[in-house]
Amino acid sequence: MAQTVLDKIVELFNQHGGSQYGGEAVTQREHALQGALLARQAGLDAPTVVAALLHDIGHLLHHLPDDAPGQGIDDHHEDLGAAWLERHFIPEAVEPVRLHVAAKRYLCAVESDYFASLSPPSVTSLELQGGPMSDKEVEDFEGHPHFRRAVLLRRFDEEAKVPGLTTPTLEEFNHELKACLKGETP
Ligand SMILES: [Fe+2]
Repeated sequence: MAQTVLDKIVELFNQHGGSQYGGEAVTQREHALQGALLARQAGLDAPTVVAALLHDIGHLLHHLPDDAPGQGIDDHHEDLGAAWLERHFIPEAVEPVRLHVAAKRYLCAVESDYFASLSPPSVTSLELQGGPMSDKEVEDFEGHPHFRRAVLLRRFDEEAKVPGLTTPTLEEFNHELKACLKGETP
């Protein structure tokens, strides 16, 4: 069972991971591997590494164009990805994925220089995703049990856009992936 899920993830990246990451200068695969590497280098736990690795798996599951936000379409990839992942992985790895768009809206509301750090495609998608959070939304978000991991993931998401960066392969994250499968002992 575990191997089936990991094989499916490899298959998704092989089929769709070479597509451009939403108007950025890296592919979906490069973006995912860079995010996971950043989480690993920060010394974070397996669920955070897995969330960083798979946070955009929703983009590999839908059939919308790479630049959907540029065409005014919110692909809701965070919900699509989380719905797929929660069939196989523990909530600590899945919920940050579900929340990583909300975390962008949160950081835009609470950190004055965060919005300025966003790339143009990220600004475009932010508008479609509802813009910066209101004070009430910020308060609710900070009370969410997976709030901290979601914010950590978001920071790696913004950084994981370096063209040509050398990273481990997808298979080299198998240890973390297996540790986060439902029913597996971490
Ligand atoms: Fe991302």
